[in-house]
Amino acid sequence: MRREMATLPRVYVTRQIPPEGLKILHESGQVQIELWDSDDAPVPRKELLQKVKGVDALLCVLTEKIDAELLNAAGPNLKVLSTMSVGFDHLSLEELKKSVKMLICVGIRVGYTPDVLTDSVAELTVALLLTTSRRLIEATHEAKIGGWGTWRTLWLCGYELANSTVGILGLGRIGVAIAERLAPFKVKKFIYTDVAPRPELASLINAEYVSFDELAKQSDFLTVCCALTPETKEICNKDLFSKMKNTSVFINTSRGGVVNQEDLYEALSTGQIAAAGLDVTVPEPLPTSHPLFTLKNCVILPHIASASYSTRNAMSALAANNLLLGLRGEPMIKELKL
Ligand code: DGY
Repeated sequence: MRREMATLPRVYVTRQIPPEGLKILHESGQVQIELWDSDDAPVPRKELLQKVKGVDALLCVLTEKIDAELLNAAGPNLKVLSTMSVGFDHLSLEELKKSVKMLICVGIRVGYTPDVLTDSVAELTVALLLTTSRRLIEATHEAKIGGWGTWRTLWLCGYELANSTVGILGLGRIGVAIAERLAPFKVKKFIYTDVAPRPELASLINAEYVSFDELAKQSDFLTVCCALTPETKEICNKDLFSKMKNTSVFINTSRGGVVNQEDLYEALSTGQIAAAGLDVTVPEPLPTSHPLFTLKNCVILPHIASASYSTRNAMSALAANNLLLGLRGEPMIKELKL
């Protein structure tokens, strides 16, 4: 039997999320929903702090910083936080853990959306890698502006995957999915590094565990797949780039914060490495005046790795289901262990 609307748990949704998730929330009859009804701009922080007062659950996206200030503004009713993302570097896990210990709340449970976006992110990573290594953006530009003269022997040459070594920094579901897609391009060898060897995952793609230094030295293509944590912050810096071959291509579809962008600019502009493809930067959006935009050998996308209709709807549905299950005190489909 449906409860009176006014007695239902209150949920604040920080974005007009794709329809499948909203439908699940509305049709559950389990919650009263308030929504920042836009997808064009994030809810202003001041408004967010107002809106979360007294809510039972919050459904957010990666543009919302969930920190002590927000948790205090929400107050003791907040039981569930559901983020429509696989990344959770926008959530202050320390503050969430504290809230559990201090019993400010009964213990906030946190849902996130891994797995459903793996295919989409892997597909986009391959597209970005090929676009960068085969210089597709430069090539279409040249064709359009009249730079296409006679057929030339070395004009717009790039680097091919056949016989190459592909390095994966941080081997998880996404790294495996990328390697599975790259293997048919006749990659010679997959190598990876992580905090420790991950033999079960590595065996799926026949990848060899190497040190961080060896990853830098051996990779013809180095793709970053690790989460952003205090340990991985700016892990891709001068030290890494200086060990890479000057024919190597660097790809990042994880988080901009794992890269020191000044060092990357230096490596690209001096020819220390051949090219970079980035789907993520710091900040986002990257200002159009940023020096990286001046480089022909740097392809920058606006954080679209999971942007397919089916994946974004699946993320939205998973975030909604995590939230409802959390409010019912049941196990979430995908829950972060705090
Ligand atoms: C995530 O989910 O963390 C991606 O970066 C956006 O889909």
